[in-house]
Amino acid sequence: MEVGTFTGYSSICLARGIPADGTLLACDISEEWTALARRYWERAEVADRITLKLGPALDTLRALPREPMFDVAFLDADKPGYVGYWEELVPRMRPGGLLLADNTLSHGRVVDPGNTDASVQGIRDFNDHLVADDRVSQVLLPIGDGLTLARKR
Ligand SMILES: C[S@@+](CC[C@H](N)C(=O)[O-])C[C@H]1O[C@@H](n2cnc3c(N)ncnc32)[C@H](O)[C@@H]1O
Repeated sequence: MEVGTFTGYSSICLARGIPADGTLLACDISEEWTALARRYWERAEVADRITLKLGPALDTLRALPREPMFDVAFLDADKPGYVGYWEELVPRMRPGGLLLADNTLSHGRVVDPGNTDASVQGIRDFNDHLVADDRVSQVLLPIGDGLTLARKR
């Protein structure tokens, strides 16, 4: 499962890592950006294992059965939406499943109390939410812009 696909870079990485009979559900709100993704999925020869769902990802997630179905989920869409996505994703992860959330250090802005940007606050709320979530084991890796890895118990 991918929440936030854009032009397809991370979805190609994910699709290359899954078995040939696996599938990736890619969610995005932008028809324009994902048209590029579709083109590059073809070139990368992974188009047959990716299903694109256009629309607000929260609606897409809520329309899925609330039962374990995902082995891996990558969260990389609008930051104020992260907590909502998380709450829809966790019940749908299989035990041992891996959740990845990108940008969880927000270029260090999360620790700047003067920064009131909605995206930064979204990440702060998300990080606080995760610390209190005992359904998962987790670590925030200080690579890139911060990448949180969480494993469902
Ligand atoms: C940072 S980009 C994703 C980058 C991509 N994961 C990659 O690494 O190649 C964020 C994407 O989230 C999408 N997005 C923003 N709000 C969304 C929403 N409510 N539902 C679904 N997608 C959304 C944007 O259209 C954008 O393409």
